[in-house]
Amino acid sequence: MSSIPTTILVTGATGGIGLAVCHRLARAGNSLLLAARDADKLQSLCADLSSASSGSHSWISVDMTRDASVSEFAGELAARNVTLDGAVLMPPQDPPTSDPLPSSDKWREVLQNSFVGPLSLLKVAIAAMKPDPAKGRRAKIVIISGISSVQVMGHYASSNVIRCAWLAEAKTLAFALGDRGIHVNTLSLGGTLTPGYRASLEKRAANAGTTFEQRLEEETSNVPLHKYGTPEEVAAAVEGLLSPFSDHMTGLNILHDGGFTRAY
Ligand SMILES: NC(=O)c1ccc[n+]([C@@H]2O[C@H](COP(=O)([O-])OP(=O)(O)OC[C@H]3O[C@@H](n4cnc5c(N)ncnc54)[C@H](OP(=O)(O)O)[C@@H]3O)[C@@H](O)[C@H]2O)c1
Repeated sequence: MSSIPTTILVTGATGGIGLAVCHRLARAGNSLLLAARDADKLQSLCADLSSASSGSHSWISVDMTRDASVSEFAGELAARNVTLDGAVLMPPQDPPTSDPLPSSDKWREVLQNSFVGPLSLLKVAIAAMKPDPAKGRRAKIVIISGISSVQVMGHYASSNVIRCAWLAEAKTLAFALGDRGIHVNTLSLGGTLTPGYRASLEKRAANAGTTFEQRLEEETSNVPLHKYGTPEEVAAAVEGLLSPFSDHMTGLNILHDGGFTRAY
């Protein structure tokens, strides 16, 4: 990580992946602005991070699916005069569905919750970035995505579309913001053993009448590294993309899938 102290917005901070990302970035000396909906969880995480690291951490509760909440978030960010050096965006996802033709109302809801709302939050974050590439000060955005960004997954019907939209948005932003020294990359995750993903795996194992370990081995048999990822591995990749490692990288979609994706 850069030796310059940095302030990074982490959305989804209290979730399975968010927690690992926050702990890793805080340990590296960054100051974090934590965001999610549940204020109690944010407060408790902020206290944990503050007692275990040297950075100055804070939090703002926001529901990124709601325009009014994102506006309040923008007002709060401006009132606190926060300058961001980085942002980790975790757009909320609807539960998996194999229906490629939901009703128009459902599509509008999915697009609002997983794309339009989170994008308006990202817009607010970008407005709070003041990079100066001539002085080596860059701002980095990492958008957490999934491997349906590069291949159709039958049971992730709307996700296939949303993830591709994020890919195009990230690439477009990378072109638009590159001269300001703002980098935009997506990190597309394969199965990652968060508590939520573990619970769904346990359910699949129970339905199939097997143990968790048997099911895990079966599901990862077509993954070259024969495992799912861990939140800590995702956190390491996020840290890399926020660090000088990515100083000449933007508009990329990095696959974090144990080699699962076959295409070049
Ligand atoms: N786990 C996997 O295998 C996997 C695979 C591919 C991609 N991903 C992506 O990784 C990201 C994180 O996944 P995860 O497994 O860590 O999820 P998770 O454990 O369910 O955590 C979700 C986080 O987002 C926050 N959140 C949810 N809805 C929100 C909203 N409307 N506004 C603001 N914050 C909201 C939650 O806090 P509150 O409920 O308090 O708001 C929580 O902090 C997601 O974008 C997911 O699509 C995960």
